[in-house]
Amino acid sequence: MSSQNNNAELKLDGKSYSLPVIEGTEGERAFDISALRAQTGHITMDDGYGNTGSCLSKITFIDGETGILRYRGIPIEELAEKSTFVEVAHLLIMGRLPIRAELRRFSVVLTRYEMLHEDMKFHFEGFPATAHPMAMLSSMINAASCFYPELLEPESDDFEIEAARLLSQVRTIAAFSYRKSRGLPIIYPKPSYKYTANFLHMMFSEPYQDYELNPEVVRALDLIFLLHADHEQNCSTATVRMVASSKANLFASSAAGVCALWGPLHGGANQAVLEMLNEIHKAGDDGSRFVAAAKDKKSGKRLMGFGHRIYRNYDPRAKIIKKACDDLLAKLKRSDPLLDIAKHLEQVALSDPYFVERKLYPNVDFYSGIIMRAIGIPLEMFTVIFAIGRMPGWIANYREVNEDPNSRIYRPRQIYMGATQNPYVPIDERS
Ligand code: SDX
Repeated sequence: MSSQNNNAELKLDGKSYSLPVIEGTEGERAFDISALRAQTGHITMDDGYGNTGSCLSKITFIDGETGILRYRGIPIEELAEKSTFVEVAHLLIMGRLPIRAELRRFSVVLTRYEMLHEDMKFHFEGFPATAHPMAMLSSMINAASCFYPELLEPESDDFEIEAARLLSQVRTIAAFSYRKSRGLPIIYPKPSYKYTANFLHMMFSEPYQDYELNPEVVRALDLIFLLHADHEQNCSTATVRMVASSKANLFASSAAGVCALWGPLHGGANQAVLEMLNEIHKAGDDGSRFVAAAKDKKSGKRLMGFGHRIYRNYDPRAKIIKKACDDLLAKLKRSDPLLDIAKHLEQVALSDPYFVERKLYPNVDFYSGIIMRAIGIPLEMFTVIFAIGRMPGWIANYREVNEDPNSRIYRPRQIYMGATQNPYVPIDERS
């Protein structure tokens, strides 16, 4: 195949086919193969979709070679330093930073919808105490839509309200799930609290005593939410778009995203990193044995929090979180041996040819658990925190699918490798 200007030429079986070349605003280029099967009778095969673009999107840009991440064109480093999670949620969902009046309105709507329908409490009663909060989160997001049938319309006339309801309620559902899993009474939100402070209140207050909000802790968690807010077509966001493409409603699409995020290769990695660091700490070694195992394919172990499908460089979010770990622990006048182990592991890995040759660097999950641990968030809630943070990205991608006039249902093809045609054998004649 060769390409000139805006067309690629494919030579196949003595024939030549022209494929349009698409170029994005940041210079990324793609062969448009939407007519390939009709023209050539062939499809493409791309295990894990590593080379396949599923959509044109205006939400988030990543340059994995150089470690660039921008939400609606704004560098993640600037947003981390100057913005807040709610403002970034507005940026991603509505397409631009809000003016003051819009931010105030968005915040008012988040507060208006922070409560769950009172009957949803009974759903929590149905879960066993051992239920994983991610299981509760995905099912309760779908359950929430049962109480608001108007949300079942794929294109409700006020998307901002629908988005704010989901963004607000996912936080309440998460906190209620935690309280339920610990056998604690649920704590209702306080309308006077902003988004992240209210979540901490619902997680850690008691009926007889409010949780004491430390501004440093609130800021650190808000930063964690902000840094997880979107990441282009990762596994869970692509899942949300897949479900949205069938014109399913926002709650169903987001619940599917929660399920995809749960996997240890994706959002579940932050929990797996802490389990790995705890295992190393208990073993009393410096982690070199674990690194050796991670390099040995037969061990089935991986250095969790390391490596990335897109980043062939340091994940910019990991850099920011690593510094935030040091800052928060210093402000809390605490140290954490697991942070020391993590830093040592990073040093060992980044000087080891196995990791260097494969361009495996720390990703967003490598240090995030240290901050959550310092805040007092329990291990089983780590991926739930990731899901709360990623909700604006899922909502923005859902909206982009629904507002695209050319959007089609996602339906990949396959190459069949199974049995060729054979007859039905009656049961008495089967060996
Ligand atoms: C997230 O996509 C996103 O944007 C995701 C995310 C987001 O914000 O949505 O950034 C969030 O999911 C971050 C990733 C969290 N997962 C982990 O930390 C789990 C550990 N990392 C991996 O398992 C792995 O790196 C993936 C899943 C992240 C990426 O997998 P790929 O792209 O399919 O890479 P691969 O499995 O093909 O690996 C290439 C090589 C292989 O070795 P060889 O076959 O070339 O000899 O690198 C090796 C792998 O064995 N490898 C690792 C490794 N990651 C890759 N070896 C040891 N430890 C690791 N962590």
